[in-house]
Amino acid sequence: MVKKIVAGNWKMNGSPQDIQSFAHYSQILTKPDQLDAIICPPFPLLGEAKQSFHEQLLIGAQDCHGELAGAHTGDVSAQLLQQMCCSYVIVGHSERRQDHAETDVMVGRKILAAQELGITPIFCIGEQMDQRRAGRWGDVLAQQLSILRDEKIDAGMLVVAYEPIWAIGSGARAENNDIVEAHGFIRAQLASLANNASKIAILYGGSVKPDNVVELSQLADVDGALVGGASLKVEDFSQLVEAFGATL
Ligand code: PGA
Repeated sequence: MVKKIVAGNWKMNGSPQDIQSFAHYSQILTKPDQLDAIICPPFPLLGEAKQSFHEQLLIGAQDCHGELAGAHTGDVSAQLLQQMCCSYVIVGHSERRQDHAETDVMVGRKILAAQELGITPIFCIGEQMDQRRAGRWGDVLAQQLSILRDEKIDAGMLVVAYEPIWAIGSGARAENNDIVEAHGFIRAQLASLANNASKIAILYGGSVKPDNVVELSQLADVDGALVGGASLKVEDFSQLVEAFGATL
């Protein structure tokens, strides 16, 4: 069975007080073992999360550098993330591809760096609205996924997050049939890239909220969610965890 995952991406939000609210939640959280609940705060809050989260709530980071150390001002290595007890790291988020001109090659290096340190990458892919309108979403996803052909990458030790860029932060998630179609396509692509494709969790991201999560959690090939806005409040995040927990 594929593991279910609910990962909160705080982006450039959140405070030490928020970490404390989630620390309290982590102590009362009950969930099936086959579900991982993860919070990815900004880097400066990782230490506090490490100190205060109960192990039921895992810690993730929002990015890592492709090298393990060196002269890269402002960047953070997977090595340090490991010391901060990060189990997961988001790589290739569309906001990083856009704001920091990250290429597929750079994202591939980040995946390798994370894997080398035993951290599971949450590898984000997704198309722009004009690419969808032009019927090119499949080509875009296939291109982004093609970095997994690098034989050094362990395709068995990663999570894929399908995040249509136009749905992120828009308030309206993609339609059910578009999600099912894209996830089925990604699963088929993974099958040509990895032996254990059926075991790779595929998350959906883009305006997942308490009022649209139950339907989402029941869609074929949707193994979890990568969540921005609705991961900032315990009341919202807990409902997302419950919805995916209920599918197990
Ligand atoms: P959103 O962000 O849930 O606020 O749309 C999702 C993401 O960017 O991962």
